[in-house]
Amino acid sequence: MNVGILGTGNLATALGRAWAAAGHAVVVTGRSSENASRAAGQIGGTAEAVGPADFAARVDAVVVAVAWEGLEEALALVGAADGSLNGRTVIDCTNAVDFATGQLKPTSGSAAEFVARLARGAHVVKALHLFAGVSWPYTGAQDSAPVVAICGDQPEALERVGALIADLGGRTAVIGGLTSARQLEEAAGFVMRVVAAGSNPRFAVPDVDPASFNTATAN
Ligand SMILES: NC(=O)c1ccc[n+]([C@@H]2O[C@H](COP(=O)([O-])OP(=O)(O)OC[C@H]3O[C@@H](n4cnc5c(N)ncnc54)[C@H](OP(=O)(O)O)[C@@H]3O)[C@@H](O)[C@H]2O)c1
Repeated sequence: MNVGILGTGNLATALGRAWAAAGHAVVVTGRSSENASRAAGQIGGTAEAVGPADFAARVDAVVVAVAWEGLEEALALVGAADGSLNGRTVIDCTNAVDFATGQLKPTSGSAAEFVARLARGAHVVKALHLFAGVSWPYTGAQDSAPVVAICGDQPEALERVGALIADLGGRTAVIGGLTSARQLEEAAGFVMRVVAAGSNPRFAVPDVDPASFNTATAN
């Protein structure tokens, strides 16, 4: 797949490296051409830095890996408002979380819905915001692989993102449409608060076998 990475920081390089190693053609862009070139070098393989104006034409799927504060600028840079990403799968990895409180910065909606409003016609999927970039690729046993909860409105985009997550070594759980993104984004704040309280979030959620789950046990 032709994977475009919008962003040149830690997550951009971690995901880019894993997908390039899995055989995807990776292009990277950002507000700084110097940083994009450096990121492409860190990703390695055939990864290439491209100018923002050339980005959309080169990609089937886009990963948005920029700071919340830079989201609007980054999408504008690649012409998203003009429909450059129309019909493309766009993965939003942003954490719009106040690290001090764990609260989401948007008072309503979600970063992913903000991306969907800014990127005309894009098929936005919220994914990959909960796990640190260094988690990928996961190479351990498949029955212990990270489960990446995702949401979005277009089945083919969800399927494409599921395939990309599988190439990272992860498993996917589709939890709903894009209106579920706020819940997914709140989960990141929850994780941060559990860590800040001195506990491993892995142990802060119940161990539930979905095969034995029913509404009676949920109450
Ligand atoms: N790092 C992780 O493991 C991880 C995991 C899951 C989710 N995330 C989320 O992924 C996003 C990126 O995280 P990161 O760790 O990769 O951050 P990072 O290393 O600090 O990189 C931030 C990226 O955002 C860009 N940026 C910052 N302010 C901008 C602005 N005003 N306009 C345009 N671009 C701007 C930076 O561009 P310049 O290079 O030009 O400054 C850089 O490409 C964040 O939302 C973060 O919460 C990160």
